[in-house]
Amino acid sequence: MTGATTTAPYASEIEDLLGRMTAEEKLGQLQQLSWTGDTGPGEGQTHEVETAARLGLLGSVLNVAGPRHTNYLQRIAVEESRLGIPLLFGLDIIHGYWTTFPIPLAQAASFDPGVSARDAEVSAREARSNGLHWTFAPMMDVTHEPRWGRIAESGGEDPYLNAVFAAAKVRAYQGDDLAAPDRLAACAKHFAAYGGAEGGRDYNTVDVSEARLRNLYLPPFKAAVDAGVATVMAAFNTISGVPAHANPHTLTDILKEEWGFDGFVVSDWTGVHELIAHGFAADGADAGRLSLNAGVDMEMVSTHLADHGPRLLTEGRISEKRLDDAVARILLLKFRLGLFDRPYVDEGAAVTGPTGEARAAARETAARCMVLLKNDGGVLPLDPATGSLAVVGPFADSTDLLGTWIAPGAAGFPAVTVLDAVREAAPTARVTHARGVAAEGHDTGGIPEAVALARDADLTVVVVGEPAAITGEAATRADLALPGAQRDLVAAVAATGRPFVVVLVNGRPLTTDEWLDSAPAVLEAWHPGIEAGHAIADVLFGAVNPGGKLPVTFPRTAGQIPVYYNHENTGRPYRPEHPDEKYVSRYLDLDEGPRFVFGHGLSYTTFDVGAPSLSTDRIEAGALRAGATVEAAVTVHNTGDRTGDEVVQLYVHDVVASQVQPVRRLRGFRRVTLAPGESTTVRFPLGAEDLGFWEGTGEPRFTVEPGDFHIYAGNSALAEEKRTLTVT
Ligand code: BGC
Repeated sequence: MTGATTTAPYASEIEDLLGRMTAEEKLGQLQQLSWTGDTGPGEGQTHEVETAARLGLLGSVLNVAGPRHTNYLQRIAVEESRLGIPLLFGLDIIHGYWTTFPIPLAQAASFDPGVSARDAEVSAREARSNGLHWTFAPMMDVTHEPRWGRIAESGGEDPYLNAVFAAAKVRAYQGDDLAAPDRLAACAKHFAAYGGAEGGRDYNTVDVSEARLRNLYLPPFKAAVDAGVATVMAAFNTISGVPAHANPHTLTDILKEEWGFDGFVVSDWTGVHELIAHGFAADGADAGRLSLNAGVDMEMVSTHLADHGPRLLTEGRISEKRLDDAVARILLLKFRLGLFDRPYVDEGAAVTGPTGEARAAARETAARCMVLLKNDGGVLPLDPATGSLAVVGPFADSTDLLGTWIAPGAAGFPAVTVLDAVREAAPTARVTHARGVAAEGHDTGGIPEAVALARDADLTVVVVGEPAAITGEAATRADLALPGAQRDLVAAVAATGRPFVVVLVNGRPLTTDEWLDSAPAVLEAWHPGIEAGHAIADVLFGAVNPGGKLPVTFPRTAGQIPVYYNHENTGRPYRPEHPDEKYVSRYLDLDEGPRFVFGHGLSYTTFDVGAPSLSTDRIEAGALRAGATVEAAVTVHNTGDRTGDEVVQLYVHDVVASQVQPVRRLRGFRRVTLAPGESTTVRFPLGAEDLGFWEGTGEPRFTVEPGDFHIYAGNSALAEEKRTLTVT
């Protein structure tokens, strides 16, 4: 077999099956079809999925759910096909099945991997009980592109943050035993560098050096593989001219050989077929050949391997050895999931909606994800005893707060609105409401009504942002301002001179410069999921003290993109102490730096994060390579008068290197809760992985070079407190 597949402990079962399968049946295992149609399995005319299952020519189905439907199809495969190999049911359960959790970008903002673990545990329990085995999550595409809609599905711009969240989510979906009735196989996607799409345009070209591939895009995938992820999905983009679906370097050399990945690679939706449109494959047979030979094991939706595989085998364009390897990988997962022993799901035990406990988890995690961007004069938190509140804006009374991926059926469980939750949280207040403007479009006719309410209220909450439909896949925006006339609404409320706060509900960084100075307080709530309103009210009224931080830079304007904290220095960097210098790398018509930096987020209390202290200030490179670490200890102190959360952040800069290094790289973070006056010390071990980098020229090699490293501690990427570590 190619790669490092170890089929133990099911080696003999798999060998036995392979020995009995025809070439067509083997190719059939590589096929995944989507359930499409107005009716479920068994309810209408015979569907191609049923026919293929009966003939033993189907490995997996996506987009079918529910115990009755999955059992119906499974019975066909297990009881009517020649070899009775069970089907694998997959679905995009990205941030919840029934119980919609905050979008993944929001989850990353919690800087608490426990948030993603809770989403994954609840999702796995709900989905597995409904007959599903496999989720196409987590997504871990590092990106510097806020225009790219799929940033909503990712952990933002930092490889380390993405890696920590990816590993936590994989472990929580999969648990210790994939055969357990409350676990799902996970899928690390999209492999690789999808977030590098030029201009942020979805599916677009990515031209990336080997160094950047390995230092920026691959670390979360490596972490997911180390955490035991069952599957990996290929990406839609090219990587330096080679489509990811036909890239032996990434799929086989790195993933399967170098990392020893023993799971299988699934194509993305028609990703094999799209090799033709890329101009990489001549026809369907060629597309099938290229993708299988590169390392794709299962074809989603398009059918080139099943259609042309027999001929490709006869002509020697694909090998039986590679085919057997792909089939073995797929069968291995079916064994691990226990499907040969228990192919059906208990129809009486299906979770049929969000439980109280699941809702509580969604509410708590959503509040943990929110980022207080600005709070001048302590206008937040609000007093629940306030006499009157106006709640205005297109999202004030909207249920469009679930975010980009809503599992089928979850639409039956809409988000709690902000208006309802404010009324609940401030039962004695007079709460008024007007939309003012729609989420999109330029009609400003409703603004006077909203302004009248704002004039009349002690304080106004303006809820603005993005409809979920303009975030996620195929939802690139060229402009990152609030859509439509929402800016006009904010400006009109500001012009009343009355106190107000802005709540943002969105799937990507937005530009806020047109109105930010006029707004006393801004809460970034993202798309918070099913308990949206409650979680927002929890933060607005101070039941929860916000502690989230930005997992991605917020630009001043779209023209400044890409702007990200972990950039390299030019030979002519901008120097704040010489603002008038001409020949430096900057925009003439824009202030230097982003609007909100990576890692930024305020609290209702204040913190002091001290300088890091190092267990030693000198260490040998050889010792680091042998596993030694240096401990950086950072003391954080709650200097305010409320209990609150701070995220201690540790950044590293390799000052002089043979390959120019980012000015800062996040290498440690810890979210802590402290009472007023309380302090604690958090400790971060720094080893070779934290101080080294992948060299991109010649044979790729991870190296730790001697020299000085600046170790910064603080509560954003602007951290100033630093110590120097010398590697000898
Ligand atoms: C997306 C994947 C998703 C797949 C299946 C594709 O369009 O890129 O992320 O898992 O569809 O729905």
